[in-house]
Amino acid sequence: MNPLNLLLLSVLIVQSSTQEDKPLNFTQLTAKYGRQSEHFDVVTEDGYILTLFHLKGEGKKPVLLMHGLCDSAETFVLRGNSSIAMTLADEGYDIWAGNSRGNQYSRRHVSLSPDRNAKQFWNFSFHEMGTYDLPAMIDFILHKTGKKKLSVVGHSQGTTIFYVLGSSRPEYNDKVSVFIALAPVAYLNDMPPGLGDSIIKAWPELDPFLKWLGLEEEFEKNGVFDWVSQLICHGMLGYNICERGVVASAIGDDSKRLEPGFFKVALHHFLKGTSRKNLNHFVQVSNRRRFAQYDYGLLNVDHYSHNKEVPLEYPPEYNLTRVTMPVALILGEHDKVSLVSNVKILMRKLPNVVYYHVIEEFNHADFVWANDLQKTLIPIMKELLVRFA
Ligand SMILES: *[C@@H]1O[C@H](CO)[C@@H](O)[C@H](O)[C@H]1NC(C)=O
Ligand SMILES: *[C@@H]1O[C@H](CO)[C@@H](O)[C@H](O)[C@H]1NC(C)=O
Ligand SMILES: *[C@@H]1O[C@H](CO)[C@@H](O)[C@H](O)[C@H]1NC(C)=O
Ligand SMILES: *[C@@H]1O[C@H](CO)[C@@H](O)[C@H](O)[C@H]1NC(C)=O
Repeated sequence: MNPLNLLLLSVLIVQSSTQEDKPLNFTQLTAKYGRQSEHFDVVTEDGYILTLFHLKGEGKKPVLLMHGLCDSAETFVLRGNSSIAMTLADEGYDIWAGNSRGNQYSRRHVSLSPDRNAKQFWNFSFHEMGTYDLPAMIDFILHKTGKKKLSVVGHSQGTTIFYVLGSSRPEYNDKVSVFIALAPVAYLNDMPPGLGDSIIKAWPELDPFLKWLGLEEEFEKNGVFDWVSQLICHGMLGYNICERGVVASAIGDDSKRLEPGFFKVALHHFLKGTSRKNLNHFVQVSNRRRFAQYDYGLLNVDHYSHNKEVPLEYPPEYNLTRVTMPVALILGEHDKVSLVSNVKILMRKLPNVVYYHVIEEFNHADFVWANDLQKTLIPIMKELLVRFA
């Protein structure tokens, strides 16, 4: 059998086994751990329909949780009773877990189909998640609860979009009591060697190819990358090489906190999809060393020059001075995505940093998936939520 057939056969085997072993969705996960959850459809100004989950608290302030790149609200309940969502709900907080446009739960639009109108539907990046998705979800929650303010927690890309919000729609700063930024991502300068860095380096070659193939949606559930990751991590290489080699090279090593049984479960819940344009935008941020709006190349002048005396050749940087909400920056010592050096650049530009802390040995995923969140992260979060109640 030639290698290509072998690969296809393995993909089919993996595909059929993942079909049988369908992971539980958010609602089923919360039910499994004895909690009732509900969900709402929230429609953005530009027509995207987002799923917003709710775990009822006992009257304390609402807290909105936002997941990272290619992830979903499920990430905040995967650790069951010791996960962020459950623990804070047990403390009485009213927990809301959002889903950014394009992931499996928010792959809907009032008029566009993600499949038939792919070019238009997937025409977004983290910019639109910050300028449209967050305002829609925040207004929905405040309206529903009758509160004036809420607290927010973001992980990775879930932090990026709040800097976009605070700088692009500054009126939202006053609606946020405190923004707990876990593994903050704004600047992506000098990424260390590994999977992430390789993807960024290969992207300029890969992107036109994906575009030519018409693949506007990337890293989706049961897509090519998902098959390959299941194939490598469940089949060919198994936990040791996959976790310690491939995954650790992208997000940092911490096999102590991501044990084999859980790692397998987490992988099943990861890769919920995003747009090619969103990946492009992150690669631009890294390569150009600027936390700026999307670079349209020669079309920047058209895009960004209205009301400007001098035409803009480059996209404007996000004005972080306008992010006046209180921000708590929490980093991981072994994180290979959110680097201490880059968070320091961010911190110098943010006017209202109220807390900064590096957690020893934490990698990029530990903030949502570590087996000792109760000891390492939750106490810090509880204290911040009380301080900014
Ligand atoms: C979760 O899965 C169950 C069973 O398939 C389904 O009834 C429910 O609507 C799903 N929930 C969401 C939010 O997709
Ligand atoms: C999780 O917490 C719920 C509610 O407190 C409880 O009913 C359930 O037994 C717990 N499950 C586990 C596995 O500890
Ligand atoms: C994508 O959005 C940009 C900016 O809003 C717009 O200029 C462009 O025409 C859109 N492209 C498609 C294919 O919809
Ligand atoms: C950024 O925003 C601040 C506060 O609104 C303003 O004073 C400053 O001029 C802005 N900087 C740029 C480069 O637009």
